[in-house]
Amino acid sequence: MAEKKIIAVVGATGAQGGGLVRAILSDKGGPFAARAITRDVNSDKAKELAKLGAEVVAADVDDVESLKKAFKGAYGAYCVTFFWAHFSPEKEKANARAMAEAAKFAGIQHAIWSTFEDTRKSIPLSDTRMPTLMGSYKVPHFDAKAEADRFFTDLGVPTTFLLTSFYWENLIYFGMGPKRGPDGKLAITLPMGDKKLASMASEDIGRCAYGIFKKGRELIGKTVGVAGEHLTGAQMAAALTRALGQEVRYNEVPPDVYRSFGFPGAEDLGNMFQFKRDFQQLYNGARDLAVSRSLNPALQTFDAWLVKNKSRIPLE
Ligand SMILES: NC(=O)c1ccc[n+]([C@@H]2O[C@H](COP(=O)([O-])OP(=O)(O)OC[C@H]3O[C@@H](n4cnc5c(N)ncnc54)[C@H](OP(=O)(O)O)[C@@H]3O)[C@@H](O)[C@H]2O)c1
Repeated sequence: MAEKKIIAVVGATGAQGGGLVRAILSDKGGPFAARAITRDVNSDKAKELAKLGAEVVAADVDDVESLKKAFKGAYGAYCVTFFWAHFSPEKEKANARAMAEAAKFAGIQHAIWSTFEDTRKSIPLSDTRMPTLMGSYKVPHFDAKAEADRFFTDLGVPTTFLLTSFYWENLIYFGMGPKRGPDGKLAITLPMGDKKLASMASEDIGRCAYGIFKKGRELIGKTVGVAGEHLTGAQMAAALTRALGQEVRYNEVPPDVYRSFGFPGAEDLGNMFQFKRDFQQLYNGARDLAVSRSLNPALQTFDAWLVKNKSRIPLE
């Protein structure tokens, strides 16, 4: 049997990377082996990946030398940054640069960089429809990732640029689940008007990434967008109503109201949703469902995801 090619996965104990590691490991006869990168090889999550058959190695995206070691000998690398751990677009760019440099150093033959659109191409900083944030961004966690694309291209790292979508897990972990209003009724709150949000199960991002690696050179230099469904707030609320067996409404608010909610990142997310609302064709058009399904035939619908996950959604 030919030796398996190693894919080094950053964020392996998390949502995107975890989906990829599991996709590699569950395809027993497949061409790849998983190298799970974590800051703590002794954590429960790291040990679980080792038990499943992953090689677990330590590295930190803040430390380029650790990444060089972790990428050494690998064929592929999955590169992702962790904006919500630090809220810093500058740090995100530095981390992406470190991964691109490590990929170049290690001679990675196929990198996937988990990126987003530069929203300033659609809404320049001078455009007052939404506030400019942190001096030079409209949607910091999008724009910084887009700026970082060039670290991979400038260094000539063979890269596929992966445009991901809103996770349905945000209903579980990110405080975006249904909440009771003063009338006691449950509602999800989004500033999307009647527009559709490209969204998906986070583990399906990793599974789509696996499909990209399997396609090999075909997708190098290309941008590939993935989503499980394009759903309006009303459609999401209707699906939640079906799954939970109690009415969930869609509470549509203007982006300005969303930005004023005051939780960390509210302005960034308010701008993000406004971009997705006002440039729906551009955003959803870049995340084709048939393409996503061709990369990941097991792609979940929101209804199917809810069947598995409804009990994990906190109802406040
Ligand atoms: N929420 C959404 O809807 C959504 C949608 C699309 C894209 N995104 C983007 O997804 C990105 C985060 O990816 P994710 O959701 O897969 O992450 P995640 O689930 O939060 O997992 C992050 C994992 O990465 C590791 N990690 C954290 N800091 C690290 C560091 N300095 N060096 C090395 N590893 C580190 C941690 O593992 P250890 O503790 O084991 O080291 C953690 O388990 C964000 O940039 C966000 O913008 C989010």
